[in-house]
Amino acid sequence: MCGIIAYIGPRDVRPVLLDGLSRLEYRGYDSAGLATLDGDRGSLSIVKKAGRIAELARVVHESTLPPAHQGISHTRWATHGEPTDVNAHPHADGSGDLAIVHNGVIENFQTLKKQLEAEGHVFASATDTEVLSHLIGRAYSESTETGSQRLSGAVKQALRGIKGTYGIAVMHRDHHGLIVGARRGSPLVLGIGEGEMFLSSDAAALLPYTNKVVYLKDFDLVELRAGQFDIQSLTSGRSAFEIEELGFAPDAAERGGFPHYMLKEIHEQPQTIENAIRGRLNAEESSALLGGLNLSPAALRDVERVVVLGCGTALHAGMIGAHMLEDMAFVAAESECAGEFRFKNRPLPRNTLFFAVSQSGETADTLGALREARRRGHIGLGICNNVASTIARESDGGTYMHAGPEIGVAATKSFVSQVAIFGLLTLLLGRMRHMSAGTGTGIIQAYAQLPDQITRILEHQAQIESIARKYAQARSMLFLGRQYHYPVALEAALKMKEISYIHAAGFASSELKHGIIALIDPETPTVILCPQDSLYEKNISTIQEVKARRGPVIAMATEGDTGIKDHADDVIYVPRTLDMLQPILSIIPLQLLSYYTAVALGRDVDKPRNLAKSVTVE
Ligand code: G6P
Repeated sequence: MCGIIAYIGPRDVRPVLLDGLSRLEYRGYDSAGLATLDGDRGSLSIVKKAGRIAELARVVHESTLPPAHQGISHTRWATHGEPTDVNAHPHADGSGDLAIVHNGVIENFQTLKKQLEAEGHVFASATDTEVLSHLIGRAYSESTETGSQRLSGAVKQALRGIKGTYGIAVMHRDHHGLIVGARRGSPLVLGIGEGEMFLSSDAAALLPYTNKVVYLKDFDLVELRAGQFDIQSLTSGRSAFEIEELGFAPDAAERGGFPHYMLKEIHEQPQTIENAIRGRLNAEESSALLGGLNLSPAALRDVERVVVLGCGTALHAGMIGAHMLEDMAFVAAESECAGEFRFKNRPLPRNTLFFAVSQSGETADTLGALREARRRGHIGLGICNNVASTIARESDGGTYMHAGPEIGVAATKSFVSQVAIFGLLTLLLGRMRHMSAGTGTGIIQAYAQLPDQITRILEHQAQIESIARKYAQARSMLFLGRQYHYPVALEAALKMKEISYIHAAGFASSELKHGIIALIDPETPTVILCPQDSLYEKNISTIQEVKARRGPVIAMATEGDTGIKDHADDVIYVPRTLDMLQPILSIIPLQLLSYYTAVALGRDVDKPRNLAKSVTVE
């Protein structure tokens, strides 16, 4: 949530910052700004603008901002104060000599603001960040230190009084050649180039420039100079760090010829499955290998219950995962909305194993729930895509998704990756209990077919596009499914509302008669998930009930089921796989349905209104 990019080195900083911001725009996009420090003239310039990065770029190009070789910048998702020019970052202190960009939330900013106002400080914005800039400015003016220590010492001093989270980058007019960064709770990555340094809230934004990075830890402070960096601890002397190589191809975060990241990511899903299962299937033992769980076979055998925690799409993947674990591995399992779990007082058996599922690994509610589970003495594992994320670091172990950067705000490939990983977990735990080797082998064989089956679905996107156009003017849409397909219905409805802004709701098909049926009319399309499984007849009845009330029906059916055409207005076919893996195939045409509906309505698919990719506030 919110994005930071800072640069110091030989290049003209303006295009570097604007390019970096456009790569980070998916983290928040209601306003943006940058500050540059021009050593020759000794001038600190700030330009900021409500709206998208393109708007900021226009203002920068029209401005007289001189070329400079160091700068900090920010794209915002408003928490304190509306998205206006004044509330956009960077923020200056009272002297105008210091500029800061900030991700996170300063919880005690009201109290601090009152204290500062009593001392005569005047604030221009409604933000918590401006309070932090004044605190650093005050500490700087009172400091007796010299050299870079004066600025970094002032940052340390100010942060000591802060409650909340931050990832920050700071510059001061008197410290040409220096940028100071610090983090607590909000990610910050140092990018190491040849004679140049970067600081970003997301490693993917650094891909065009360098693949050498240091993921800063909470309470790290970094001093950046063009050819060097120095990482200190906010609490004591030096801080240990590791230089890591980014495992992504340099173009992994590019659109690669697709009109939107979302469409690109939908098309990557055959590869996503391969990446999720690579090296993790054990054909010899008809089981799965998940060494990262860090649990002995005996400990895994002793698990009495699994609780899966997540938000949004990750929660829906978790619902499918919990269903698989009960259905196929015979382990009691449930999924719970992370933001609810953390404030509940649930009695759970001692041997309850927790999984926090999160693409970003930074979602505040999921992290809070993981911490709560571990505080109660449970083992908490992570299923994350972002390897350096807080959830990945704070969990007792887990499994990485290896799905590559997901830039579209609406999650797509991360969902199929998470479901695929739950399938592996089900295989592993199932084979330790009552699952036969034959069943295990069947699961392994089904996995092998998934990438080609997904490719086959993607070949029919033109048909899905025409269905999307047909129903794009609907004011409301319903999605119904049973068993494994109930969470698929929830996920499909979430996709539809996130990017098309059509009101969409998912339900268990069995609930249709209990109220939802009142919504059925000729203007309200219903998507009914109707695979050829043991509940096929019941699903056909559901279609009939909707049709009887003249509701248009789009059926998602199994390839070869020609008979369903007699019942539904439109049919989308998907290949058959095992019930437990079927959601991986079923969601794909529904991702496309929401995508093409949003396109038909002229929506900003990759950056839907009010949303952010990674929700790091509660
Ligand atoms: C936000 C996004 C959703 C996402 C959810 C969880 O709400 O808009 O698309 O599913 O966060 O994100 P996570 O990174 O934890 O998977």
